Amino acid sequence: MRKEENRADTFILKGNICYSETAETVRTVPNAYLVCREGICQGVFEELPEEWRDFPLTDCGNALILPGLVDLHLHAPQYAFTGLGMDMELLEWLDTRTFPEEGKYGDMAYAEKAYGIFTEDLKNSATTRACIFATRHVPATILLMDMLEGSGLKTMVGKVNMDRNAPDYLCEESAEKSALDTRLWLKEVNGRYKNVRPILTPRFIPSCSDDLMKMLSEIRKEYDLPIQSHLSENKGEIAWVKELCPWSSFYGDAYEQFGMFGGNYPAVMAHCVHPTEEEIVLMRKNGVFAAHCPHSNTDLSSGVAPIRRYLDEGIHVGLGSDIAGGHVLSLFQVMVGAVQASKLRWRLEDDTQKPLTVDEVFYLGTKGGGAFFGQVGSFEKGYEFDAVIMDDSRLKTPRKLTLKERLERVVYLSDDRDVIGKYVAGRKIFAAI
Ligand code: GUN
Ligand code: FE
Repeated sequence: MRKEENRADTFILKGNICYSETAETVRTVPNAYLVCREGICQGVFEELPEEWRDFPLTDCGNALILPGLVDLHLHAPQYAFTGLGMDMELLEWLDTRTFPEEGKYGDMAYAEKAYGIFTEDLKNSATTRACIFATRHVPATILLMDMLEGSGLKTMVGKVNMDRNAPDYLCEESAEKSALDTRLWLKEVNGRYKNVRPILTPRFIPSCSDDLMKMLSEIRKEYDLPIQSHLSENKGEIAWVKELCPWSSFYGDAYEQFGMFGGNYPAVMAHCVHPTEEEIVLMRKNGVFAAHCPHSNTDLSSGVAPIRRYLDEGIHVGLGSDIAGGHVLSLFQVMVGAVQASKLRWRLEDDTQKPLTVDEVFYLGTKGGGAFFGQVGSFEKGYEFDAVIMDDSRLKTPRKLTLKERLERVVYLSDDRDVIGKYVAGRKIFAAI
């Protein structure tokens, strides 16, 4: 008997397998075998190769097996007001809706309740990986990380830094205090988890003084951290950044001048709706990931990001729910939002930029965003084994559908009820099969 047979992260799933190979091509293989060995995908096979015959096999029947979805940008504390207060633009919305809610996370009893609901819902969704903003509060951020660790999902979580332009109840009292709290947080969480990693999280330029950005850049280097923030989301915000940082030539340049815009480490910037030409050049040069958040950009009237252009330029792009600027946690719904927004952009704004296809947004929500986590988001050999099993039998039709058509309907019509199994890095999170 081979040693692999005893490992929980070594097994085979049988079912209808769909995954992206490139941005344009989804491979669909009906009734096939997906092999996981020690948490790593060995490939998809129509006939099971002899060498894997002894591995335990789970038959998923007629269900679809897809790579787990990757949410590159969301705010856990904002989940509590999802679907409320979408009648403002970004800056007014932050002051009126967001900051008062985030202020509550100094209260651990509230945080425990709110983060418990968030973690449970994220666990039951089709999302397997996520980049998450917490709040500026260290104890509540650690509580969130503890809860997410227990969920088995792979996440990057950031204690938010914000030392200016926020109400007293939420603003950190100085750059020094913000940096000190960040160090205390990192000391506490570094090496504490298997599934959760800290990610440095300056909220956005208007929230962080120059002194704080310099200190965070030092901390980033010292701890070799990835970084997440917001970029060029809203026209008023962009004008404000010009006022706050008159020495910068564009928004991304302000991050760049503090050494906070990727290059030799991973950086993900949410939105990127209104880039300048120079910003696009720098994003590509530095390998910055754009987290495209179409629902948020509609809900807050921000605009539509030029995703076709980013793809043509070879810029990394993934999808984000941006809870609660965006009103849905489901990454499938975010995929649909990305297609719809791209069609309006094409029709109303720039008819040279063709709309996104379902295949392309499926790629963005799996392999595109997955790249921020490494070899993640596909079933090609060598990828970490993240999978969701989707039962589409609720989506009835008298028509006979190809597997490709079934996938399209899962993207457009499925919800959490249809997620019947979930694996992350070869570990079973749940499976009702
Ligand atoms: N920019 C700075 N903070 C936020 C936030 O919480 N949500 C969004 N959408 N944009 C931001
Ligand atoms: Fe955001």
